This record gives sequence, C-alpha cells and structure tokens, in this order.
Amino acid sequence: MLTQLAFNLDIINPEPDTMSSTAFRDPAFEQNKQDAVHRWVPWIAGFSAGFVADALQRYVSARRQNVRVLDPFAGVGTTLVEGLRRGYDVIGFEVNPFAALASRVKCSAFEVEPQELWNTILTFEDKARQRTADLDRAFANGDDPTQCLPAPESRPPAGFRSRVPFFSPTVERKVLHCLDIIREIPQPQIRDIALLAFGAIIIQVSNYSYEPSLGSRAAAGKANVLNADVVGILSKKLREIYDDLRLYRKEIEKFVTRPKALVINENSLFLHQMLPREHIDIVITSPPYLNNYHYLRNTRPHLFWLNLADKTIDLKKFEHANFGKYWQTVRGSQPIRLNFSMPDLEEIIESIAIKNPEKGVYGGRGWANYATEYFNDCHQICMSLQHVLKSKGIAVFVLGNSIIQGVNVHTDCLFGNIGELCGLKLEGIHPIREKRVGNSIINSSIRNGDPKNSRLYESAVILRKP
Ligand SMILES: C[S@@+](CC[C@H](N)C(=O)[O-])C[C@H]1O[C@@H](n2cnc3c(N)ncnc32)[C@H](O)[C@@H]1O
Repeated sequence: MLTQLAFNLDIINPEPDTMSSTAFRDPAFEQNKQDAVHRWVPWIAGFSAGFVADALQRYVSARRQNVRVLDPFAGVGTTLVEGLRRGYDVIGFEVNPFAALASRVKCSAFEVEPQELWNTILTFEDKARQRTADLDRAFANGDDPTQCLPAPESRPPAGFRSRVPFFSPTVERKVLHCLDIIREIPQPQIRDIALLAFGAIIIQVSNYSYEPSLGSRAAAGKANVLNADVVGILSKKLREIYDDLRLYRKEIEKFVTRPKALVINENSLFLHQMLPREHIDIVITSPPYLNNYHYLRNTRPHLFWLNLADKTIDLKKFEHANFGKYWQTVRGSQPIRLNFSMPDLEEIIESIAIKNPEKGVYGGRGWANYATEYFNDCHQICMSLQHVLKSKGIAVFVLGNSIIQGVNVHTDCLFGNIGELCGLKLEGIHPIREKRVGNSIINSSIRNGDPKNSRLYESAVILRKP
C-alpha cells in the first residue's frame, strides 16, 4: 500500500486542473526575506509571497469584487498580505500569539500615517541612544552594566526560563531600555509595530539561534553575543518597516473600497463555528507538517518578552490547540483511533505502530499516536472548510511528506483523500519542491529508514467544493 501511494503521487493531476507543476513558484519562505512587508518578521515555516500570488492569479484573478480569502494557519500573514494587496477581504486564524500579532500588524499597518511612524522612530532613536550611552563605555571598561544610569523600568519576564542566560548582561540592559521606550509610545498601532520589530530582532542579539530549532549559540558552536548595537539593529528594522509602509499604503489606497482584514488568534479547527456557511472563495494555506516542528518552543522568547505569555503553563493550552498536537503530548496516551474510516491510512499507522517496540512510547507506538492525531485534525479542518467554502470555492494546501520511524508518509495524497471523504473534490496534487530541508525531521533520530526512500518534498494539494 505504501508503494501504491508513492506511485499515485506522481500521477495525481486530474482534469480540470491541468496546470503544470512549474506554474507555482518555490514556496520557501526564504524568498520573503527580500520582499516588502513580508521581510518584517522571519518565520521559519512560512511560505513565499510568490507562491501565494501564483495561486491567487490562477484561481481568482478574473474576479475582483467581493473575493474573500481565508488562511486557517496564517503564520506571519503571507497569504493575508498578498490578498489585501489585490483588494480582497482576508481572514486569518493563527493559534500562536506572536505569529498572530505579526499577521495583525501587517494587515493593519497601511492604516498608519507614515509621517507619524517616522516621528516615532526618530524619538525612539534619540531616547534610546541617550539611555544606553553609558552601557558601551561600561562594557569596554569591564564595569557592571547594572550600575549604569538611568536604570530601566522594564524587568525581564518573571516566568521566562532558559538554559543559558538568554541575553548577556549588557545586551539585556539595552533591551530593557528599548522596551521602556516602546511602551511609552502613545499610539497603539505604532506601539504594536515597534513591538513586532523588537520581536523580529531579539534572537539576533541573544545567546540563542535557530538551527533550525531554537538552541543556545554555544550548543551550535557559536560565541555568545556579549554586546550588540541593539538600538541600531532595532532602528534599522523600524526604518525598513517605514520604507515598506509608504509603498504598501499606496497599493491599498488605490482600491475604491478598502479591503478588510480579520485576524483571529484561535484554533482554526473550530472556524466553522466562527464563520458563516459558504463565506469563503479561496483558502491558501500551509498547516504544520507531520514533523513535530515545535512552533511554540521556537517562539518562547517572543511570547514571554512581548508579554504574550506569563507562565510556562500558559503554553500548554496553545500546545493542545496546535494542529496535530505534538508528539510529546500524545506519545504516552492509550492507542488513539482515527475518527473516520480510511483503511489505507489505518494500514500506514499500524506499520508505524509496530516499529521499534523496545523503545516504548519513544518507538512506533508513540509516533503512531501522533500521526493519528495529525490525520484526525486533517479530517476536522476539511470538514470545517467544506462548511465555510462557497460552492466552487477552492482550497490550496501546501504540505510536505514525512518519514516516521522509517515509514514514508505521503501526507499530500492522504490529505487529498481525506478532503474527498469530507465532500470536497480533489482537483490535483502538484509537486512544488523536490527537496526540503530546514523545517523537516531530516536530521532527527526518528528518520532512520532506507535513504533511497527518504526524500522530503512539498506539494500543493488542490481541493474544490462541488
Ligand atoms: C507552516 S506555518 C504557516 C506559515 C504561513 N504560511 C506563513 O507564510 O507565515 C503553520 C502555522 O499554523 C499555526 N497553527 C498551528 N495549529 C493551529 C491551529 N490549530 N489553528 C490556527 N493556527 C495554527 C502555527 O502556529 C504556524 O504559525
């Protein structure tokens, strides 16, 4: 059955969607790092603006009026921004509060008067240079930075723990001064822009780095950041946002009716309870992959330092709401069952469950539980979309395969079949990336199968509501 699914992968491209695989641009987020607005916040598991542009061009370009775009896994808002730029109304769900903040700020930044942002940046630079002036001198002399005046009012978040000090003492003092000044900004929208800019640069000045998961620099063989030009780095980010904002406003102002955006910081599995029936024209999204990439752990510093979480326990509720849960949260449960009938998938899950029994929940059994939860959530999101999509509405899902305990799980084919079980029509599965690195489990100990059968790829799964 596994071979059968692998074979199907290459042939699923049925009519009427006859687009060649090259019609979509590379979906890797890497591209976004150069693009206006998208470059504001790095997001390891995002997709590219070019990919979204291609999908919108293909499926809705002929219609300009009353188009509603949904991204149930909005991340930092790539789909939402691209939808707005074309004058479409957009709705995004995002469970991670930091990513939700990024989406919300990007979807409303064009309302901000650029001159007001510019004045705020100049005030920020002025105050920050004054308040941190003594710290570089103290650092050069080897003096204690906590004795430098003035003392910042902000404190490191009490509930935040890290294995090694997250910031070196001089950097931390500078960071606290910057936070003080950001919190003094009177306009809430500009304050949120500044907080987002702060979130976008904190890893760069910290003793941690993405490899691609967040870990200490020391563990990655890198030197700690003992001192950094925090004010200069933050100010550069703010100026980048200002430059983009001027163009972004012009792009949106050209529409007679200003497109509307709604960003909901909730679990999208329940979106059918929050949106009316037949409300959405197109979904363009990329849910978490079946690779246990831990979005929450990888954004812990952002969540705590931006006051989006107070205690580690706060993260639990987000963990449970995360699509597919996490292996850590389900590995020890009793064997979990699929909520729907799909014999091919049951067979695949069983083939995972019997691997490495000597490892207990760390072997096949734990991973089978995780895969089952993941596909149960795939089923639930397809049911929700069936509810909110208009007739003939389309859903474009970017998904990657996974190799779990040596079993190659073709998530794209399986997702397409689940969509059909939920009453959607599978229009095609387009290979869009032959090789995937980075946010994958490629270097993980759970990937221990035959190297020839261990290629990681990405596909766009196209489903239509009849
Ligand atoms: C692959 S990323 C999407 C990135 C997005 N395409 C972009 O370009 O920024 C998946 C996102 O889904 C979010 N997520 C996970 N479970 C969710 C849920 N149940 N409801 C809403 N969002 C969820 C994660 O926090 C993550 O940001």
